[in-house]
Amino acid sequence: MNKLTIDYLQSSLLDYYSSFARDLPWRKTKDPYKIWVSEIMLQQTQVKTVIPYYERFISKLPTVLALASAHEDELLKLWEGLGYYSRVLNMHKAAKMVVKELNGMMPHTSKDLLKLPGIGLYTAGAIASIAFEERISAVDGNVHRVLSRYFGLSLTKEALVPLMYEILPSKRIGDFNQAIMEIGALICLPSLNPNCQSCPLKDNCVALDMNLIDSLPLKPKKLIRTKELYTLLMITDDASYYLQKRPAKGLLANLWEFPLLKGHLSQTEIINYVQSLGLKMLKMMELPNTSHAFTHKDWDIIAYKVTIINPQPLNDFTLVFKDDLLKNYTLSSLFNKYQEYYR
Ligand code: ADE
Repeated sequence: MNKLTIDYLQSSLLDYYSSFARDLPWRKTKDPYKIWVSEIMLQQTQVKTVIPYYERFISKLPTVLALASAHEDELLKLWEGLGYYSRVLNMHKAAKMVVKELNGMMPHTSKDLLKLPGIGLYTAGAIASIAFEERISAVDGNVHRVLSRYFGLSLTKEALVPLMYEILPSKRIGDFNQAIMEIGALICLPSLNPNCQSCPLKDNCVALDMNLIDSLPLKPKKLIRTKELYTLLMITDDASYYLQKRPAKGLLANLWEFPLLKGHLSQTEIINYVQSLGLKMLKMMELPNTSHAFTHKDWDIIAYKVTIINPQPLNDFTLVFKDDLLKNYTLSSLFNKYQEYYR
């Protein structure tokens, strides 16, 4: 990386950012708490989806103290629809640590931010550079793509990070990092057809010059995906439904769900199962199948609505009134398809 290409990168990006940065709500603040909330939401979710969630979250919980004191169910409701709920549960834990151990003051350095649950290298870099102007990079997938192409490097994201210190400007670090994110989100797209002609970096981009846009960045190794089969049972007397709470660790931790049994059960197996709970079945209706993709596995779900006549308390389940279910229980979006059956 020579000095000229670095100077060009810095001045082009900062000029671009001054003229064209999107007016996003978290860009109007230097409050590390608010920037933290935005960066966590933006990790797996697009900007346009995040905006209303961010506004609502910040208006309900404007400070780290408010977040620390919030009830977990309120947090899950505020996050409902964003997915990857461990993000907000980790923020809750981290906020409690900040209040208890740091007098409610967010850490001011990337090194200390990294000690909080849910904050990795990228997020620590983003918060420290945007809120405190620390000279630190923040390399997410977008930034990896832009820089791999600009410098013509086929390095993994992890291998790229240590090189980044060299390219940071001496001021406006937060703007610089966000400008690269912006180019990655709006111009230097992952498709085979990025908008190179409108890119402020086009005159010095190695990948554009050498026809390497399609082959950079280096693709991460493909994860081996597995498929799991489940049978979902909406067991109801038409007024209430049985729900269970998922374990505190693992996929969809702490969310509520309808009974979800391993495997694709036959109708006879379902009848036997419902009887084994001590419930008397009136009828059974097949519902549409659904599938749900996680980062490393797919759930393939068949579903039945089972109407029973003797609702009663059961050890492993909670019997919940329809209205209560909608208002007070957070289910994963994978159940959205079944809402018409319990509305
Ligand atoms: N994606 C991740 N962080 C972002 C930010 N600060 N602005 C826009 N998009 C982002």
